[in-house]
Amino acid sequence: MRRLMSGLRPRSLALAGDLIPLMPPSIVPPAEEEGDVLIGFDEYGREVYLDFSKLPNAHSVITGTTGSGKSTLARSLALSLVERGINVIFIDPHGEHAQFIEGLGGVTLSVEATPPDVLDPAGFSPEDWSELLSSILAEVTGVGGFLGSMLRPAIRRAVEEGDLKAALRALAPAPGLLEAVRPVLEPLAKPKLRLEALLEAGVPTCLVLRERGRLAIEQRAKFVACALLAQVQGLMSTKGVKHRPELIVVIDEAHKLLALSSNPILRAYQETRKFGFGFWSLTQLPALIPLEIYQLVGFSVFLGGTKEYVEELSALAFLTDTDREWLLYGVRGYAVLVRQGDPRPRRVKLAIRKEAIIEQ
Ligand SMILES: Nc1ncnc2c1ncn2[C@@H]1O[C@H](COP(=O)(O)OP(=O)(O)OP(=O)(O)O)[C@@H](O)[C@H]1O
Ligand SMILES: [Mg+2]
Repeated sequence: MRRLMSGLRPRSLALAGDLIPLMPPSIVPPAEEEGDVLIGFDEYGREVYLDFSKLPNAHSVITGTTGSGKSTLARSLALSLVERGINVIFIDPHGEHAQFIEGLGGVTLSVEATPPDVLDPAGFSPEDWSELLSSILAEVTGVGGFLGSMLRPAIRRAVEEGDLKAALRALAPAPGLLEAVRPVLEPLAKPKLRLEALLEAGVPTCLVLRERGRLAIEQRAKFVACALLAQVQGLMSTKGVKHRPELIVVIDEAHKLLALSSNPILRAYQETRKFGFGFWSLTQLPALIPLEIYQLVGFSVFLGGTKEYVEELSALAFLTDTDREWLLYGVRGYAVLVRQGDPRPRRVKLAIRKEAIIEQ
């Protein structure tokens, strides 16, 4: 119901798509309009576009079981975005997108070799930033309760002094806690990357987390990824409301971050103002994302998968039997697209650019 209501807001009533449920089914759906980015073709062979001026925001969720083509689709769309002057940043757990980004004239940065400055409040107040950082840190290191609450003043000190070592010093009286967070924080104490400078440079970027390895590396990767995403939100929000996005952040394997209750992704999705950025979460596990999010993001793309996966999706979106069959038995490259303001899910054959295909 809420979804239907959101489709009927006066602002989007002009969209032809909103009138479709009011039409008798025998009337052929109106032709697709042109938009920013071609995503694929519908069953009639007509082009289906993403049009950011019509979408209420540029956020997205892209789901599909392993091998269904999420990463490939993200690269393909990214190529079209960059051609239209919209920058892209890939949060890339294993470096899978590095070559593609370099092919676009972009840069690859490994957060292990080029640690970002996580203390930069990026438009948040120092209190809010300390609060956010310490809750992410507590969650990724599994430090809860009273011990977790001890992190906040220590991180606050670090934010004020602009030095992560200050947090480690402040935690000296609590050696157990110090040992839990030291492997995450210490390698970040000499930052080599300021996100603000990276955003100003405006070049396509692949931020490689290299999360496979020791536990500390995985915890650090999650901490850094969450901090960076919160900074993107902070910095882009200070630039004010924008009609078109300037930046899309593709978060590959987002389920690992979405599982954290302190992740900044959902908060960005819940923001109703239209800032100049979009987070595109790629996930194998659609049910990890709360139901309301599917009604808030500008668009969702559901790629194919198993029976269990398609059933999971049916609980999240209003899919018809034909949509379900399309996803279950469809060949690779078939998807269902849900755009906010267009109450009809579209079955599409994705238009994947050849530059995006990486054979494994
Ligand atoms: N539309 C397509 N046409 C041709 N090949 C494709 C298409 N989509 C994906 N592929 C190929 O399928 C393989 C898996 O795709 P991809 O890595 O994008 O899947 P994924 O959904 O990201 O998987 P995972 O969840 O494991 O990361 C790759 O080798 C890719 O090149
Ligand atoms: Mg992938």
